[in-house]
Amino acid sequence: MVGFDAVVVGAGIIGSSIAWRLAQAGLRVALLDSGRMGAEASWAGAGMLAPGGEFEADSPWAAFALENLRSYPDFVEELTAETGETIDFQQLGAIEVAFSEDDWRLIEARASAQSMLGITIFRMSPQELHEEVPMAAGDAAGGWFYPEEGLVNPRDIMRALRTACIAWGVVIREGVPVRAIRPKPKEAEIITAEGAISARWGVLAAGAWSSLIPVAGCSLPRAFPVRGHLTGLHLEPGSIGPILRYEQTYIVQRADGFTIAGASSEQCGFNRALDPLILAGIRERAARLAPRLANCDFAESWLGFRPGIESDGPVIGPAGGTALWLAYGHYRNGILMAPVTASRVAQAITSSSEKDSSGPTGTR
Ligand code: GLY
Repeated sequence: MVGFDAVVVGAGIIGSSIAWRLAQAGLRVALLDSGRMGAEASWAGAGMLAPGGEFEADSPWAAFALENLRSYPDFVEELTAETGETIDFQQLGAIEVAFSEDDWRLIEARASAQSMLGITIFRMSPQELHEEVPMAAGDAAGGWFYPEEGLVNPRDIMRALRTACIAWGVVIREGVPVRAIRPKPKEAEIITAEGAISARWGVLAAGAWSSLIPVAGCSLPRAFPVRGHLTGLHLEPGSIGPILRYEQTYIVQRADGFTIAGASSEQCGFNRALDPLILAGIRERAARLAPRLANCDFAESWLGFRPGIESDGPVIGPAGGTALWLAYGHYRNGILMAPVTASRVAQAITSSSEKDSSGPTGTR
């Protein structure tokens, strides 16, 4: 493969969104994945767009999460308009449910810290909670409503990104493991099982797998897998409404009624064996939130590997002064943080590309 301006390594939601944006900007782009496009964390994710469940303290990443949340309607609208694909995107809010006075105090303290970050939150009485979510546990002491939050079906996003990338001429190569990357100041060499590809830019966006690819001459923050189990069942569409959360457990419902309970968190490498005990625990905790779930048959269970990272937040930026850009380590928020990660990386690359082509009188 020759003649690319940019080669993106990793075709999950982050890498695919970057490839789409770069191609829209006129670059010739190749998108490589060792497996199938969007078949790992972007397939497994529940698709919660919910900074309130993830961030409490002020940090650049909390602000970034909110910026992404507020970019999502335009991101989905643009993808839908370009591709004609249907994307299940719902802005129904999220409710943090309290069962006891202790829960209430904890959530209240968190909500007050979060409102300082610009997160909108309203208190809900038990009556308001049950009016909004009739299926919520009768003994709940109320909840805190995060009206801006929502969810998206990441599988729909990935289908649309594939269509959009193809339409913009992105060369998608699946089943192509990358063995190493050799970044230089003005070029990135991507070594695959099929040979080397050189491009003006490289982008490493291989999620939990990013650190398995040696990058010559660079010491980069380590990415590692944080496994999460999920389980789902079919209910009547609209029977849940907002996302329900209690501690580490959440329930989300797709527009077609498929209802997902998650999630666990294990650091056990890339172990793909479903653990029945972990799944039973998720179902039990989900039934605490919505007791009707205790008597239901869960139709499907699956797991995915979140891209954990040894740094405060995702790694988004160039690898030293080289032509390799890094976009990995989004941990629990890869679906949420795709829109702005992609636009930031693509804008930085395209503005440098413009400087390249401005010749000796350019501003470089
Ligand atoms: N974003 C939710 C999770 O990772 O479980």
